[in-house]
Amino acid sequence: MMTRALLISLVSCLVTISKARLINRCDLARVLHQEDLDGFEGYSLTDWLCLAFVESKFNISKINENADGSFDYGIFQINSHYWCNDYRSHSENICHTECQELLRPNLLSIIHCAKKIVSGAGGMKNWVAWRIHCSGRPLSYWMTGCRLG
Ligand SMILES: *[C@@H]1O[C@H](CO)[C@@H](O)[C@H](O)[C@H]1NC(C)=O
Repeated sequence: MMTRALLISLVSCLVTISKARLINRCDLARVLHQEDLDGFEGYSLTDWLCLAFVESKFNISKINENADGSFDYGIFQINSHYWCNDYRSHSENICHTECQELLRPNLLSIIHCAKKIVSGAGGMKNWVAWRIHCSGRPLSYWMTGCRLG
């Protein structure tokens, strides 16, 4: 019984750590490359890296509450009012996903949803922080030291 209790607390401790997980910049670049975001709708990997940094500081599990009661989820801070359902307030749920799915460490759901967003009108300008901090700026340094292969 003792061992079991210890194991459970160890496991929940590890779960807590992985929930607050930051992804390394070059690891993120590799995942984005694998999922064909390089050049997708005309945006480069550096645009996506800059976006992830200004939105979440590379925090895969970031959740932020907005003044209107909606929430932003994950590394790209995707909004629950339009894109995903979190059962807390009205959602258009355009990405047909639960917002919790957008927090998964493998990033597949959030990349899928981000592709949908960037394919729509306005492209990456849908993210105000990208427009303000990344658009039209030199961004190549985001890939410094990263190898994709
Ligand atoms: C990541 O985001 C979560 C949820 O917003 C937060 O609790 C956690 O402290 C953040 N982690 C880091 C390292 O900033």
